[in-house]
Amino acid sequence: MTQNTPPKTGLRRNTANYGDPDFALYLRKTFAKSMGYSNAMLERPVVGIVDTGSDYNNCHRTVPELIEAVKRGVLAAGGLPLAFPTVSLCEPSLFPTSMHFRNLAALDTEAMLSGQPMDSAVLIGGCDKTVPAQLMAAASSDMPSVQLVTGPMLATAFQGERLAACTDCRRYWAQYRAGKVSGERIAEIEGRLATTAGTCGVMGTASTMACIAEALGMMPAGHGSIPAVHADRLRAAEEAGALAVRLIANPIRPSELITAKSVENALRVLLALGGSTNALIHLTAIAGRLGIPISLARLNELSDTTPVLVDLKPTGDGYMEDFHSAGAMPALLWELKDLLHLDVIDVTGATLGDRLAKAPEFVDRRYIRARAEPVSPVGGIVSLFGSLAPRGAILKRSAATESLFETEARAVVFDGLEDLSNRIDDPDLDVTEHDILVLKNAGPLTPAGMPEAGYLPIPSKLARAGVKDMVRMSDCRMSGTAFGTIVLHITPEAAAGGPLALVQSGDRIRLSVKERSLELLVSDAELAERLKSWVPPAKPKRGWDRIVAEQVLQADEGCDLAVLRAEG
Ligand code: FES
Repeated sequence: MTQNTPPKTGLRRNTANYGDPDFALYLRKTFAKSMGYSNAMLERPVVGIVDTGSDYNNCHRTVPELIEAVKRGVLAAGGLPLAFPTVSLCEPSLFPTSMHFRNLAALDTEAMLSGQPMDSAVLIGGCDKTVPAQLMAAASSDMPSVQLVTGPMLATAFQGERLAACTDCRRYWAQYRAGKVSGERIAEIEGRLATTAGTCGVMGTASTMACIAEALGMMPAGHGSIPAVHADRLRAAEEAGALAVRLIANPIRPSELITAKSVENALRVLLALGGSTNALIHLTAIAGRLGIPISLARLNELSDTTPVLVDLKPTGDGYMEDFHSAGAMPALLWELKDLLHLDVIDVTGATLGDRLAKAPEFVDRRYIRARAEPVSPVGGIVSLFGSLAPRGAILKRSAATESLFETEARAVVFDGLEDLSNRIDDPDLDVTEHDILVLKNAGPLTPAGMPEAGYLPIPSKLARAGVKDMVRMSDCRMSGTAFGTIVLHITPEAAAGGPLALVQSGDRIRLSVKERSLELLVSDAELAERLKSWVPPAKPKRGWDRIVAEQVLQADEGCDLAVLRAEG
């Protein structure tokens, strides 16, 4: 390109390489004409719209109408909106777990953002893994992008209480396992837990990631928590389309938004929300795409100085619609103002300091607490280190039982998910409520793909005796909607030959939240002896499973594929 050649925009970008760029554009326009576009329309700048609607994805049921609203915004602002499908991931629809495919969705989205002709993009996600995948893709492609989420479902009034997926799903299922809820009752409640379109109605992973996208500046203020079925959600979509057009003339790239400072702000937000533990893995992966490390030791420093201010399930009582009407992210950020980097910008170009110049007019303190009256004076998540987790593990203390924070006990070990399901309810299982349940071989390197199985069920004989919580630990994850004294993401995982691989039933383990430690009380000599007979798991032979087994990183690096990181 000579100095006077205008930059390629719209359909002129990314033409196929036939050795004749003019012919490539001619051919592209010829085929575009078959869709009925006029020349004037084809000359416009292009906004790509990532379509993750799918009959398998209940959380994305509203994507078609959101696309229409985004298109409205793009057209009114002078752009040409072009929607395109990418991988869509819904939590309950995927085997072995949606996490196994997050990087596939990120790779797909990055490739389409980079390879197709577009000048900016609107990313429509919602369900847990879709927003992280899209933010990872935006970071790697550095395409000016606006994140739009489908928004949370509404809670349902049911016989004097409110219900929404999926903290209430777990609560009722635990009662069913304990024999306190009948089969007929649990079947009836199945139809009352998720009664509107949208993502889970609590501060689970989807809503945590929506708030984190907002904290990173990838969407306009207040857009993360608008309920899926509210008319404001459609207006947010229209605004996202118009904003994407503005980003073409005045590009603000993801690499200008996702910075060390905004990532630290996002960590503060995660802690103050009492948000999902999964978000830590996702944020690490997103930041890793731009070479920004997240240290678990730093997380502890932030956790000790960031209060939990949001009172929503699974940590507290409210639902996402309560958080939204209470003042949403702008109210939360206002409370955290002195802890945040205020010179970061968002996708509109405004600094956080500008956005927080004025106090919110109304905040419902039932759901967003003042700093003087926090839900908890310290953050929701802590990291733990020790001989069982040399590279770290985490515990969501805001959803755990404080009396179990200092526990030394006997381990009852399950070798994998199959062993867990075969034995957990065996009446002869040698277990008491004072033991520690340990699950291994469920980390990112295993065929299980690091599922949300860290919420190990309480053995039914204990559940029936009234035990509601006990210490559980594993190398896998936990749903953002779950609760309990649960140590997650033990790193290195068992399949990587970490100390977890060597734990046996009867070993003693010491958990100390106060000391941030997780110790396996077995001598080094004994562990060295056990290591001699440890065999690494066989690698899958082909396809995506093989790529994951060869490339996936551990939890402390966000479980991204090595080749997709910034340095990759
Ligand atoms: Fe999609 Fe919970 S299942 S957000």
